[in-house]
Amino acid sequence: MDLNNKVIVVTGAGGGMGKAIVSQLLELGAYVIGIDLSTDSLQSIQHPNLHTHAASVLDEEQIAEIFFQVHKDFGKIDGLVNAIGIAQAATPIEEVTLSQWHKLMDINATSLFISCKEAVKYMKPNRQGSIVIIASISAVRPRPGLQSYIASKGAAESFSRAMAIELAPYSIRVNTINPGPADTNMLGQFAAKDADISTVKEEVFRKSVPLGELIEPEDIANAVTYLLSDRAKIVTGATLNVDGGRGL
Ligand SMILES: NC(=O)c1ccc[n+]([C@@H]2O[C@H](COP(=O)([O-])OP(=O)(O)OC[C@H]3O[C@@H](n4cnc5c(N)ncnc54)[C@H](O)[C@@H]3O)[C@@H](O)[C@H]2O)c1
Repeated sequence: MDLNNKVIVVTGAGGGMGKAIVSQLLELGAYVIGIDLSTDSLQSIQHPNLHTHAASVLDEEQIAEIFFQVHKDFGKIDGLVNAIGIAQAATPIEEVTLSQWHKLMDINATSLFISCKEAVKYMKPNRQGSIVIIASISAVRPRPGLQSYIASKGAAESFSRAMAIELAPYSIRVNTINPGPADTNMLGQFAAKDADISTVKEEVFRKSVPLGELIEPEDIANAVTYLLSDRAKIVTGATLNVDGGRGL
């Protein structure tokens, strides 16, 4: 698979999946612009084609400036991968505050509106582009206590499909990946307040996957690079479950 000279922006680039995605894109020859609140984890990747920005994707002005600069430097933006997100600790709805709900919706859904809006500004005139949104299999196979996170991921998937139909006339493809439980820092954050994290990971998450394994960040990166590449040139509005069968 060849992503040679493609210019690709990754949000949440410093996270577990984000870092695996960045590494694979660089291996395949892309220029990568990684945005995250903290880009510290990316420092171990020494690559001339990697550019990082420590920024919040909710900061509309700063994000607009970063996309403007990327376009100025490279003359195009080929791809956008949204690997940004936060978890919700399993909590009954009556104990969830409105501000916790808003925070989940802001980071998991509103951030997509902000980054996609900026990317599309530069993709539309070129009449090409590929956008990948990481949602979650929990959007279609929910778990108790995660109502706010799941609602934000449902919004992400619906937004992705809405963008796919709106942008198809411009040959911009938009697809969703629904990961199952993945072996990153986030996984333990879904545990209820008093729960033992390693027990939850093993008993609740790993055992819920029919293939019997947690999803590796590289599994998600494999799907992302496929959807960004020309091998997926006729794929848009699709949701790819990378979940070991958890959605079955
Ligand atoms: N890990 C799982 O089990 C799992 C399962 C299904 C879906 N997902 C989804 O996959 C995506 C990646 O998750 P991950 O497991 O790599 O988690 P992670 O916590 O390792 O990475 C998420 C990244 O998003 C960044 N981020 C959060 N708020 C931000 C903001 N305002 N601006 C910029 N960056 C911000 C964080 O700093 C972090 O680096 C998320 O959308 C997550 O919801 C994860």
